[in-house]
Amino acid sequence: MKRCARVIGSGGYLPETIRTNEDISKLVDTSDSWIFERTGIKTRRIAGENETAASMAEIAARQAIEMAGIEAGEIDLIIVATGSPDRVYPSTGCILQHRLEIQQCVAFDVQAACSGSIFAMSIADQYIKSGAADKVLIIGSEICSRLVDWTDRSTCILFGDGAGAVLLESTDKPGILSTHIHSDGGFEDLLYCPNPQVATASAKDEKGVITMKGNEVFKVAVNTLGRIVDETLATNNLDKSDIDWLVPHQANTRIIAATARKLKMSMDQVILTLENQGNTSSASVLLAFNEAIRDGRIKRGQIVLLEAFGAGFTWGSALIKY
Ligand code: ACO
Repeated sequence: MKRCARVIGSGGYLPETIRTNEDISKLVDTSDSWIFERTGIKTRRIAGENETAASMAEIAARQAIEMAGIEAGEIDLIIVATGSPDRVYPSTGCILQHRLEIQQCVAFDVQAACSGSIFAMSIADQYIKSGAADKVLIIGSEICSRLVDWTDRSTCILFGDGAGAVLLESTDKPGILSTHIHSDGGFEDLLYCPNPQVATASAKDEKGVITMKGNEVFKVAVNTLGRIVDETLATNNLDKSDIDWLVPHQANTRIIAATARKLKMSMDQVILTLENQGNTSSASVLLAFNEAIRDGRIKRGQIVLLEAFGAGFTWGSALIKY
């Protein structure tokens, strides 16, 4: 009997505080119209001072566990994707495991920037297919607002905070059809976030904030996401018209629209959360997926394409029969 990973639960958490484009225009030289026209973003959520990646992950995780109707103790593996972990170590996965009062399971983090949740899903899929795990919790949780330079108008307009969760279980029916993940470390200079505490002497004066050459990242992202769509369809011997929903990483509406055009999809088949969440990095795909599952747009049996692109560069996709 062939093992496959099926989605049995999902969850999401967004912090209470809303920061609008108007609010940001009081901090830097920008405007609501510039931000909305160039990115599609109007508002984003900002974590409270006592919130962390693990605290937000816990709320999203509990929702996913409740939807799945399982006990937290049944989970074999927790994978947290985050670029804003609570601590260098222990991993946010271990902190989350303790918060969920799970005594025995494997827990670790993956760091693949905005593609993190797709990387986590791909790892989970391998564990389930191989028989090494039956129930896997994957999380994307980010406090991007603490990695942003609020005096840099080219980046501070883009990011928001939040957490998304998906619970996967082994099944003999179709679930995750395929995952595809890639990395190319040659683009470090276009998008990075230094860690000054462990930097070399020459880099120790760099600020620990997101630094990005936005328009160059934009061009690579559009081309790369076009290629990954082709790779995913070819692997599964599917046609563009077989895809019911696109759940993209929420970085920029113009990037998302280019991928939808490539798939010949109407924007009505694209799950968009960008306008009121901004780019929540590794949380964005799972937050969007959860929203569309919970509001009933994504239905059992439908084919859903998840994709993401982020620093590294890293990029990936997951094709799921929900
Ligand atoms: N308000 C007003 N003007 C601005 C702002 C702003 N907030 N930011 C930049 N500008 C100006 C620039 O200074 C520039 O002015 P100039 O022409 O006088 O030099 C002009 O606007 C155009 O700047 P661009 O950077 O070329 O603007 P662009 O249309 O490319 O939009 C953006 C910038 C939104 C960042 C876009 O490039 C983008 O979305 N890039 C991709 C981001 C992405 O996908 N990142 C990957 C995931 S993130 C992760 O992994 C952590």
